[in-house]
Amino acid sequence: MTESIEILIIPGDGIGSEIVAVAEQVVKRVAAREGIELSLEHALLGGIAIDTCGTPLPVETLEKARNARALLLGAVGGPKWDDLPTLERPERGLLGLRSELELFANLRPAILFEPLAAASSLKAELVADLDILIVRELTGGIYFGEPRGITVVDNERVGVNSYVYKEHEIDRIARVAFDLARKRGRRLCSVDKANVLEVTQLWREVVTEVGRDYGDVQLSHMYVDNAGMQLVRAPKQFDVLVTGNMFGDILSDVAAMLTGSLGMLPSASLDREGRGLFEPVHGTAPDIAGQDLANPLATILSVAMMFRYSLDAPGAADTIEKAVHAVLDAGYRTADIYVSTVPETRRVGTREMGDLVLDRLEAGP
Ligand code: IPM
Ligand code: MG
Repeated sequence: MTESIEILIIPGDGIGSEIVAVAEQVVKRVAAREGIELSLEHALLGGIAIDTCGTPLPVETLEKARNARALLLGAVGGPKWDDLPTLERPERGLLGLRSELELFANLRPAILFEPLAAASSLKAELVADLDILIVRELTGGIYFGEPRGITVVDNERVGVNSYVYKEHEIDRIARVAFDLARKRGRRLCSVDKANVLEVTQLWREVVTEVGRDYGDVQLSHMYVDNAGMQLVRAPKQFDVLVTGNMFGDILSDVAAMLTGSLGMLPSASLDREGRGLFEPVHGTAPDIAGQDLANPLATILSVAMMFRYSLDAPGAADTIEKAVHAVLDAGYRTADIYVSTVPETRRVGTREMGDLVLDRLEAGP
């Protein structure tokens, strides 16, 4: 008898509950199809956890998270909690989870689904067949460095954050990125600001050292300002990018937009053993929450990443990705990816989009 694998479902705030409800159905359907026995738990995180339990990361959530093999998250945050101090905000719940579970490797693929080329802000030929992967360090750098805070010095307020990386933190994320590059186009571009910041001089040195173990992967380095520019100038020059926490946050939003919509980008945050947190790159979109308008595809594609990276079921991942392709090919679009001038497309809501994907899963390969 096989033991069931625990999955923790965390809807979060804003559109989180709508998109996760749809994605949860996909999880169940695919697990049943593939004969994978899962047990699904649910937990609170972010603003809803502040409102219900008084803290963005309740102990029960952390406990359940430690017991789970994979976590599926919607998004956290919203205007309601915007005035809270930094360390009490909904985002702290997410950052705490990443850090407590040592989910240091954040994989953010930016893939252009061919039928969506018209939704990109770049010319179609610049983004046709785009397939890049951003590997973002997620538990260090300026997000977590000490000292931090706002203090009063000489009668004025001074804000401080510290950009810190230890050698082992750079080494382990570099290895993840090289390993992934090896399975793709064998090109890795490391992004830093080594012309100004010592911490990223060390970044460049360590990545170069690790590169000696990967003679088959072509390594290059780029300053972050140039990388931002190159991403919108000629994004297809990249295969895999590896960078620190803050640069990765920024560049992954840029890369996302190339694909037509933030609503299409999934992500995986992994520890050393393959435990992972899977979430869309987009946020809680409070302006459209509760209106059945949100695009559930990034969350559904995050489910695919969950099957691939944490559940060792690449076939199941392929099935989900194919179903998403099929629905887009058939012309269905949520509002964020709908372009009125493209013929033979139809606007659908969150739930209908989910049902369409489920139908394709039903139909089988
Ligand atoms: C992301 C988000 C988060 C981050 C926020 C919500 C804390 O922007 O996952 O990219 O900055 O890491
Ligand atoms: Mg971000």
